[in-house]
Amino acid sequence: MSEPANARAAALPHLRDKRFAKGDPIPLPLTMAAIYHTPGDATGFDQYGRFSNPTWDAVEHMLAHLEDAPCVAFPSGMAAICSVFFGLLKAGDRILLPADGYHTTRALADRFLKPFGVTYDMRPTSTFLDDGFDGYRLAFVETPANPGLDICDIAAVADAAHKAGALLAVDNTTMTPFGQRPLDHGADIVVAADTKAPNGHSDVLFGHVASRNADIIAAVTGWREISGSIPGPFEAWLVHRGLETLDVRFDRMCSSADVIARRLKGHGAISGLRFPGLESDPSHNLARAQMERFGFLISFELASEEKAEDFINNCALMQAATSFGGVHTSAERRSKRGDAVSAGFVRLSVGCEPVEELWKAIEASLDKISG
Ligand SMILES: Cc1ncc(COP(=O)(O)O)c(C=O)c1O
Repeated sequence: MSEPANARAAALPHLRDKRFAKGDPIPLPLTMAAIYHTPGDATGFDQYGRFSNPTWDAVEHMLAHLEDAPCVAFPSGMAAICSVFFGLLKAGDRILLPADGYHTTRALADRFLKPFGVTYDMRPTSTFLDDGFDGYRLAFVETPANPGLDICDIAAVADAAHKAGALLAVDNTTMTPFGQRPLDHGADIVVAADTKAPNGHSDVLFGHVASRNADIIAAVTGWREISGSIPGPFEAWLVHRGLETLDVRFDRMCSSADVIARRLKGHGAISGLRFPGLESDPSHNLARAQMERFGFLISFELASEEKAEDFINNCALMQAATSFGGVHTSAERRSKRGDAVSAGFVRLSVGCEPVEELWKAIEASLDKISG
C-alpha cells in the first residue's frame, strides 16, 4: 500500500484515544439506546435513537478517516444507495446506471424510482464515458463492476459528468477505501456495502455514504432521520470491530487473489478469466492508474452449469454463497441471481485462508471437473 494508505491504516485503531479519560474501556462500548436523558434545551445532545447514537458516531468516524470525507452509516448497502436516490432526486430527473453492476440497484430504479417520475438509462461500465452525460442529474457507476469486473475511468467520468451538470456517485463496494478512493478522483459521492469486506465476517449488513459536499451529506442524513433507515447499534459495533482488522484482511485477500488468478490463468478448465491485477486483463492499465490494490474478486467461466456447481460444491475451502468479502473464500454462479452471464460463470471471492492451502483445494476441485 502507498504511504498515505499505510498512515491511515496505522491511525485507524487509535482514533478514539484522544477522548479517553483515565479508566475508560479501550474497546468501543456498545450503546443500545432509543432515548437519552434530555432535561431542558437538548440542542447538541443525543435525543432519540432515530437521530443519533454514539456507536454510529464511532463507526462513522472510522469510515470518515478512511474516506477522508464525512460519512453517514446505513443498515445495508442498498439503504445507502436509497438515501442517495431518494435524498437527492426529484420527479423529472434522469439518471444513468451501469448495465453490468449489482442487479438490485437497477431493480430499485425500475420498481421504485420510475413510479415517482425519475427515469433511468443504462450503459456498460467499460464504455460508460461514451455518449456523455447531457440531460442527466446523476451518473452512478460501480468500478470494478460486480460481477464482470469491468472498470471505468472515474476521473474522466467525473469530469465529463460535471461539465454536463451531473453528479457522479460511485459504488465502491468491491474495493473498500483501502483499495480505491473515488472521491480523490473527483466523484461527488461514494456508496458502499460494508456488509462485505469492511465488516468481513459475513454476520451483519451495513452501508455508508461518503461525500465532501455538505449539502449531499445533509440530504442523506435527513433521509435517514425521516425515513427511519437507521443502522442497529449492535451492527454498528460489529462493523467498528471489523474495520479494525480490514487492513490486514484486505491485504491478505488481495495478495492471495493475485496468486490464485495467475494460477487459474494456466488452467485448462477456465475461460474468460477476469482479474484487474493481471497484465493481460482489459482493465489492467486503468486499474493500475486509479486503484491502490486489485481487489479480491476473480471471475471466470466453466464449461457448463453442472461443472460450475461441482467446482464450487466440491472445493474443500470454499463456501457456496452469495455476497463476497468475508474471511471465508466463497463463490457463486451468478446466473442464479439473474445476472446476464453464462450458466457456467463463477464469481470467486478470495478469503483469508493461507494461499497455498487454498490453491491446493481450488486446483483439486478444478482437476476433478476436468477429469
Ligand atoms: C456492488 C454492490 N453494491 C451494493 C450492494 C448491496 O449491499 P447490501 O446487500 O448490504 O444491501 C451489493 C450487495 O451484494 C453489491 O454487490
